[in-house]
Formats: sequence, structure tokens, C-alpha cells
Amino acid sequence: MKLWFFIILIFPIHAIDFSADISPIIYENCTSCHRSGQIASFLPLTNYEEVFDNRFWIAYAIEGEQDSRHGEPLMPPWPADRSYSTLLDEMYLTEEEIHLFSDWIDIGAMQGDPINEYPMPSFPDGSALGQPDLVLEMNENYVVTGNYEDDYRCFIIETGFDEAKDLAAMEFIPGNLEAVHHAIIVAVPEGSVDHLDAEDSLYGYECFGDFGTSNISDFLGGYAPGAIIRKWPDGLAQQIPSNSDLIMQIHYAPLNTEQIDKSSINLFFRDGPVDRYVYEYNMINTDFALPPNQISEVNQTWTLTEDISLIQFLPHAHLLGETWEIYATLPSSNEIIPIIRINDWDFDWQFFYSPEYMIHLPVGSVIHASCTYDNTSNSENPNPQWTFWGDNTNDEMFFIPFRYVSYLEGDENIYLGNNPVYLGDLNGDGGVNVLDVVMLTNCVLSASCSDSADINQDGGYNVLDVVLLVNIILE
Ligand code: HEC
Repeated sequence: MKLWFFIILIFPIHAIDFSADISPIIYENCTSCHRSGQIASFLPLTNYEEVFDNRFWIAYAIEGEQDSRHGEPLMPPWPADRSYSTLLDEMYLTEEEIHLFSDWIDIGAMQGDPINEYPMPSFPDGSALGQPDLVLEMNENYVVTGNYEDDYRCFIIETGFDEAKDLAAMEFIPGNLEAVHHAIIVAVPEGSVDHLDAEDSLYGYECFGDFGTSNISDFLGGYAPGAIIRKWPDGLAQQIPSNSDLIMQIHYAPLNTEQIDKSSINLFFRDGPVDRYVYEYNMINTDFALPPNQISEVNQTWTLTEDISLIQFLPHAHLLGETWEIYATLPSSNEIIPIIRINDWDFDWQFFYSPEYMIHLPVGSVIHASCTYDNTSNSENPNPQWTFWGDNTNDEMFFIPFRYVSYLEGDENIYLGNNPVYLGDLNGDGGVNVLDVVMLTNCVLSASCSDSADINQDGGYNVLDVVLLVNIILE
């Protein structure tokens, strides 16, 4: 006993050092954006000195403020609440990694032996999907002023398509990764917004929350740093209507140097037959008034008139938006299906979120959405005003595009992630059988399962998942 005490005094904590323990956390989770030429180049995190010099700032960003954290720190940027629903491509540090980082600071933030430093991952650039069928590029360079202000700009891209095109994917390629914060693309009737470009003295035209016209198609493409782009699952496609122009709405982040951007769009057409089109339902509530010095809640519902499979959703508000919650209630059982919750809405981080598997919602289901808006006085809103629906920075929105297909049996087993695997296919061999049960049983017993082990989607894994998997196989 005494000896133990003695040892603990000498080695208070296992000697955590940068090379062995901290570099893998930072390089795997942060450096893709935090390096030169990227969106977060203001804070490069590519070696010991950079991480050491900024260690308290990093700790603040990854731990979050304790009282307002709700489990969702600032960095890596992932506003969705992971305890509410499981979504694809979540970016986060584990509690263990967060604690390791603060323990490292506490014991002196040592470097350790550089030989143990984690190798810098390779960050591929260019298309994530391979060779596109067609590339459409901005006609001119756009100059982003280095005035440290946000810049929201729409650019018209002519397609020249005189027939509708079936898309497997539309991929936005930022021309300048340091400047482009996010982008979203729609189609409009050819020539219908040319006047807006003509009226603006610079290339493109200014647009904040909208495209300057209401005659727009579904959202066809989008971009946010860190978001992963995929083709629609086999047999699914989105359509670009015939005789359309595309509008690319780009949000340029505040910069202190002048920069040039010439972004482009990669189009991947659907070669095989299209069994189902991906549709968009835009849930909107324009009928609200947000009084000054109050937090208000706005709600909306969508009652389904057919069976659908939900694939993606993008809650959208402006700067007063504070929280979002979206869930569905099933008609027969009133069972609640949580879709997404955002506890600290951030206009800068908007993603088209996908569930891991298509969500089957039968006819009569009701999707409920609510957003709270904080119109009280604070440093960003020192002089609160009555606020209504509108396109400008100081207007607000309640807007959620939901992407879905009409339901086909088995949709709930279609995995929407990168390597198409089926629910329960833990070993990724393309089938579900007793080998997967063995693997699941072993990882449950050793508490070492990955997310795909959560067969019943209850946020964890245990014997219930094993039982369900066996039933799926016996069915
Ligand atoms: C997908 C890109 C991306 C990733 C991944 C990312 N960051 Fe960031 N980070 C940004 C951007 C962009 C900003 C600027 C603020 C903003 O837009 O939210 C930022 C801001 C920060 C800030 C300043 C926060 C503040 O408000 O003061 C810190 C510190 C930071 N990041 C650390 C990290 C760490 C540590 C990681 C990894 C655990 C990480 N970031 C992962 C893009 C990223």
C-alpha cells in the first residue's frame, strides 16, 4: 500500500505527451481545416509548437463552456446533438480525448519524443467522387475583399441543357478553400435572374438568405468544410430541370487579405435506370413575429400523405436562431422518431444532415419542427428589433428542406454512408449472417463495438441488438 502511494506521488499521471498522445487527436480531427490554404488557416495546427502555443484556446473550443455545453463543444464543428439522434459523418472528439488534452495541459504540455509523433494524414484534394461527367465553372474570378466581413454572393452558371438531366451527384469544388465557408446550389429558369447580375457592378450579385428569386428548384448541391459528398444510392437521382441556369450562393468567410475565387461544380449523371427521384419538401413558416428582448419559439408540422423514406434534412435559420428540434410521430403507435436536435444553432455551420439508414415514415406520420430565436440584447444584437421572415441578414427564417423518396420495402436497411452495407452487416461482407452475430456478441462482451452495432438504433449496443440481429437473420 505504501509503495503504491509512493509510486503515485512520483508518477502522478501517466506521462501524457504531444508526440504519443495528442498529435493523433489533433491531426486526425482538426488539421484538415486548420492548416495553410484552408478555411481555418488563421489557426494552423500542424506541429507541436502551434498546438502548444494555442493549447488554452484549443481546450476552450473542444471542451465548450460547461454551463452551455449540452455535450456539443465548438470544435470540431458539429452542431447536431449526438445524444438525440445518430447521423452520418459526425465530427467529434470522445470524452476520453477531451480529458486527455486537458490532462496534458495540467502536467505541463510536454512534447515527448518527436519520433513518436503521429504521421500527418494525407488530405486529398479535387473530387471525392472520381471523374465527373461535366464540370461547370464560374465565368470570372471573384475578388473577395480583405475587409474582415462576411460576403454572401450569388453567381449564375449557365448549363445549356435543353432537356432535364438525372443527377447521381452534384459536387461543389471551392476555388479558394480559405475563402469559401459554405455554398448552396439551385436551378432557375434560364435567364430569369440575369437582371440581378446586371444591376450589381461586380461579378455575381449580393444575396444573403435567398437567391433573389422565388422561382427556384430543389437544392441540388451544397458545400460546407468537413461535409462529405456522396452519390445517391443506386437507382436514385435528382433532376436538373431542362433549360435552367444554376445559381451558386457562396458565403465567403471574413478575411484580412484580398483573395480570388473561381469555384466550380462537378456533375455526375445517373447512368443506369432511375427507379425513384429524390424529392424535396420545404417546410416553411413565414408567419412569425419575433418581439425584441424575448426568446420566441416557432413551430411547424408536415403530415405525410404517402409512405416516404427520409434521406436528408437541413434546418435553416439566420442569426437569431438558437435551437432546433425535429422529430416525427408515427400514426398508429404515436411512437416518436427523433430526427435532429441542435442546442446551439450556428449560422456558420449548416449541413445537409443524413441519418445512417433511410427513415421510413408511413402515411399519416407527422414531422414536427420547432426553432427558438433569441432576440434579447447581446454583443451581436445590441439593439433588438421586431424581426420577421425575410432574406436579409437581420431578417429571420424558419426553413427546412427535407429530401425523401417514396417508400419501398427494405428502405430502412439501406445504409446511406460511403460503403453501402446493410443493417447488421458488421463485417462488411455485403451480407448478414451468423458471422455478424459472432462479431456483435464479441464486441458487446468486450464493450468495443462500433456505431454499426446499434442494430435497434437506441444509441447504444447490448444484448437487445444481438437478439434483433438474430431475428433479422431468421426472418
Ligand atoms: C471542418 C473544418 C474544421 C475542423 C475539422 C476543425 N475546425 Fe476549428 N475552426 C474552423 C473554422 C472555420 C473556425 C472559425 C470559426 C467558425 O467558423 O466557427 C474554427 C475555429 C476554431 C477555434 C477558435 C474558436 C473560437 O471561437 O474562438 C479553435 C480554438 C479551433 N477551431 C480548434 C479546433 C480543434 C482543436 C479542432 C479539432 C478537434 C478543430 N478546430 C476542428 C474549422 C474547423
